[in-house]
Amino acid sequence: MSRNRRPLLITRRSLLSGAASTAAFAVASPFPTPALAQNAPFKIGLMLPYTGTYAKLGQFIDDGFRLYVEQKGGKLGGREIAFVQIDDESKPEAATDNMNRLVGREKVDAVIGTVHSGVAMAMVKLARDTNTLLIIPNAGANDATGAACAPNIFRTSFSNWQATYPMGKVMADAGIKNVATITWKYTAGKEMIDAFAENFTGHGGKVVADLTVPFPEVEFQALLTQIATLKPDAVFSFFAGGGAVKFVKDYAAAGLNKSIPLYGAGFLTDGTLPAQGEAAEGIKTTLHYADDLDHPANVAFLKAFKAKTSNEGDIYGVQGYDSAALLDIGLTAVGGDATARDRMIAAMAAAKIDSPRGPLSFNKAHNPIQDIYLREVRNGRNARLSVAQAAVDDPARGCKLS
Ligand code: BEZ
Repeated sequence: MSRNRRPLLITRRSLLSGAASTAAFAVASPFPTPALAQNAPFKIGLMLPYTGTYAKLGQFIDDGFRLYVEQKGGKLGGREIAFVQIDDESKPEAATDNMNRLVGREKVDAVIGTVHSGVAMAMVKLARDTNTLLIIPNAGANDATGAACAPNIFRTSFSNWQATYPMGKVMADAGIKNVATITWKYTAGKEMIDAFAENFTGHGGKVVADLTVPFPEVEFQALLTQIATLKPDAVFSFFAGGGAVKFVKDYAAAGLNKSIPLYGAGFLTDGTLPAQGEAAEGIKTTLHYADDLDHPANVAFLKAFKAKTSNEGDIYGVQGYDSAALLDIGLTAVGGDATARDRMIAAMAAAKIDSPRGPLSFNKAHNPIQDIYLREVRNGRNARLSVAQAAVDDPARGCKLS
């Protein structure tokens, strides 16, 4: 375990005991008070899932973020970094209390979070209301950098639209005419399926069934039976983390992988392949990352991530790493003086990061502009087949920033 791991983990129980006072804060103090002098540590709230189906995703984001900070000697922009972390459990209903705890009681200078789109949208609301600097290291909710965009909100991952829109054309170009879709019934699932369908139907394809299960349930049998009956040309899916492991294994156990090719958003097979094993071989996905990207930034990242954690790096580790890189750019631009907020935000908005995923810059809504790769699982790795769409820029529908 590294030197600066887990100084404080706020659990749901400790949070609930403080719920009354945090609610009082939300009413009485809508703006964060800079708690720390400029030479004091810059305090970061890591609000991520450390339990539940997305636990591994949260941990890898945390690991990636801390790796970058360690590589910079424990400082970003010359400021010592201190952490407080909170397990959001991927529960939207707890998100406002969790954010109030970080912003109100802990008086963090910035929040990094989270994985789940529904939790992220509650965080976005509170970040907007309190003008808290928020960097989203995964959750793809389109509105976070769409209608709810704000100067103090950045995303280093993707929008749900961005991750799957390119796959619509890829599958239509491959001669696939009829597709059944399957996902969890919540914001991320709906938005990723919608974006895929927008491009797939735009290129002449037809979606013959939209199948869903409630998040985070993993009882797929009835839906797999429906797919077997429908016999579409292919299936397009979004699942991630523990749910993705179970879905891919169930799909293969039902024998469907032999007759109906399985496609998906890249989260279906990222960070999950050791557990999915043979069942994942041949699955094609789109994502802003592939395991075998051979540019120096990725080679160095994978080596350092492995040395720190003993794990193979994945997209979640990359997104955590890039979140720290973005904050470093902002703090460096102001010599560590985070009260120079406008200059700090301007530097972050203009950032050009040599990311392990490839070149990374940001649109006016602070969402990444990035290549989306077509990948195939080969010998237990997400191998890059091609760039499905270069420099994909989310349309930022409804964003009023210019
Ligand atoms: C989301 O909820 O936005 C999400 C969760 C896991 C992977 C990708 C997206």
